[in-house]
Amino acid sequence: MNTVVMGLQWGDEGKGKAIDYLANDYDVVVRYQGGHNAGHTIYFQDKKVVLHLLPSGILSPHTISVIANGVVVNPVQLVEEIEQIRNQGFQPDNLQLSSFCPVILPVHQELDIVFEDSRYVKIGTTRRGIGPAYEDLTGRRAIFVKDLLDRDIFYKKAKPLNDYYNQKIVSRGGKEVSIDSYIDTYIEMGKKLKPFVCNTLYSLNSYLKAKKRILLEGAQGVLLDINFGTYPFVTSSNPTVGGVCTGTGLSHKAIENVIGISKAYTTRVGGGPFPSELLDDEANFLREKGNEYGATTGRPRRVGWLDLVALKYAIMINGVDSIFLTKLDVLDEFDQIKVVTAYEDTKTGEQGIIFDPSFEYLENVKPVIKTFKGWKSNIGDIKQFQSLPLEARQYIAYIEESVEVPVNYISVGTGRHQTIQK
Ligand code: IMP
Repeated sequence: MNTVVMGLQWGDEGKGKAIDYLANDYDVVVRYQGGHNAGHTIYFQDKKVVLHLLPSGILSPHTISVIANGVVVNPVQLVEEIEQIRNQGFQPDNLQLSSFCPVILPVHQELDIVFEDSRYVKIGTTRRGIGPAYEDLTGRRAIFVKDLLDRDIFYKKAKPLNDYYNQKIVSRGGKEVSIDSYIDTYIEMGKKLKPFVCNTLYSLNSYLKAKKRILLEGAQGVLLDINFGTYPFVTSSNPTVGGVCTGTGLSHKAIENVIGISKAYTTRVGGGPFPSELLDDEANFLREKGNEYGATTGRPRRVGWLDLVALKYAIMINGVDSIFLTKLDVLDEFDQIKVVTAYEDTKTGEQGIIFDPSFEYLENVKPVIKTFKGWKSNIGDIKQFQSLPLEARQYIAYIEESVEVPVNYISVGTGRHQTIQK
């Protein structure tokens, strides 16, 4: 079944591990949005591999890995990543890169930094130029991967863009970026990437016709979606299911199954509302135990309890069929485990289960909490669902009942084998 795997929270749900676990059952793994703001960590044969742009199927030699048109590509980063995994003993020969991926230029990155620094309320972007590159796409002036393959075309398109952005950068106190400082490198990267460049829209549809099994790998998470996330504290793409169609050229009919990834608690990096956030010793404990530091930027992640109001919202707008629950083992030592079941509006005192993603609303709600007894034992080596402690099974059953979707996979550690399939 062609499957979308997407994060149901604010990113960092453990998608890399989930996709690596599932990838064996698929012939093709596709990234459809985002860029190197993502950081998908995979532990494979004792090797830790962090992928930012390459699809998580790249470690399986028989899988075709596709970076489709919805992904914004920094060519220097992509070439580096290809070389990195080669050095780690993997072969990226089955990689395909869409000729229509928008390219991130050094001016985009500089713009991202000066805009972020001059913003009154900071989004906390990854400062990698993701937003400005997507703005160029909707502004109908994007430079695509195909343009890297011809120096004259690249220069003709990039020069005016570069000049235009330099004015904005300098007016905000940033440093001008000369096109001469990167054009040679970008053209060189274009040469290195050329063997992978193709029309992925046609290759993907041919795989569909040939009944190959396709796995669509979301980056970030539903609550960071440009349309449905906690705007403006969002990324600039659609991790949600609609992003699959616009980001690949596969029709909605191609999507047969949606697996949503959720941590057994919640984290967030960057600014923005977070109703279930913890700010005390419990937060520090959870952060350390879960190693909650960004895979891309190293920033400490904000942490909190599982928020069922937000989870239901994410499930509703994506037609999620099942949940892959990650990092359940991180809760092993807690006496009590809490979940948010509703929000109380602090202005009116009313309780509700509507997730209104607006900042003004979420900043003024108080979480309504249900407390569970912790299982207080190490679950990292458990292989069967029935062998999980009763308290852990009760916690999972409560999640399933609340969100009306089954939890079919449970991750109890970083290793590929530490996954329980129900
Ligand atoms: P941008 O995607 O770099 O523009 O950042 C926008 C927001 O999305 C910031 O709050 C980032 O921290 C967040 N973000 C972007 N990518 C990821 C990710 O892969 N995991 C978690 N948060 C992310």
